[in-house]
Amino acid sequence: TDMFGELRTPGEPSFVAGHRGDRSTAPENTMAALTRALASPQEFVETDVTRSRDGVPVLFHDRTLGRTTDGRGPLADRTLAELKQLDAGSWYSSAFAGERIPTLEEFLVVLAPTGKKALLELKGYWSVDDLAPVTALLDRFDLGGRVTFMSFNLGSLSSAAELAPGTPRVAIVRSLPDNAVDFARSFRVIGIVTPASVIEERPDVVDEMHAAGLGVMVYTLNSKETWAQARALGVDGIITDKPSSLDKWLAKN
Ligand code: G3P
Ligand code: CA
Repeated sequence: TDMFGELRTPGEPSFVAGHRGDRSTAPENTMAALTRALASPQEFVETDVTRSRDGVPVLFHDRTLGRTTDGRGPLADRTLAELKQLDAGSWYSSAFAGERIPTLEEFLVVLAPTGKKALLELKGYWSVDDLAPVTALLDRFDLGGRVTFMSFNLGSLSSAAELAPGTPRVAIVRSLPDNAVDFARSFRVIGIVTPASVIEERPDVVDEMHAAGLGVMVYTLNSKETWAQARALGVDGIITDKPSSLDKWLAKN
């Protein structure tokens, strides 16, 4: 169940994760984008999890609704029923008019039979009580072993460790801690996720993490040049907006 458990050839990213589904061909974090990502050969789908006012886990990136729906204001002020009225596709293209904000449950229904894995990014702080509906869903679909929790918020990762100790966690960091191995161990994560530029500045951290059985994944890389750089750095995974293109590139290079 550990994404970094199978040690790989150095320099060979072991997995590709579609960022917010496949947002290069469909509106991010909608079922259209998520099912496209699931249909490609990539191993993981990345998506963002947040909560409606009535505590239902839904998939959405921003704090506010305006960029990717026809609603306005903070998502957390709306109930699920209110959120389901919103159009989450027209901003992207009229071909996706009527796409809705998915619940986590709707995504897991589709994920479960595919055998694919998900990187679930917990947006903001989740207490143990907040997170309980998420882990209940993972239990219901028996997906605890195919999900990795990811967050910038160390408190949310701590809640996940308490509620679902068997489900791996990774910390997203905008800059590297002085000692990335100690950081990962003290926050009980199996790896870090960070912008590729951060690793380029301290490339030795990849070997240090690997020597400790920990992983490094980078985001969000969308060009052949940056994929080649990531491969040269020896990272374990790449998060991309273009999962299908990266899959093809990895097969050829
Ligand atoms: O993969 C990390 C990335 O998803 C974090 O940034 O803003 O795209 O959720 P963001
Ligand atoms: Ca994310």
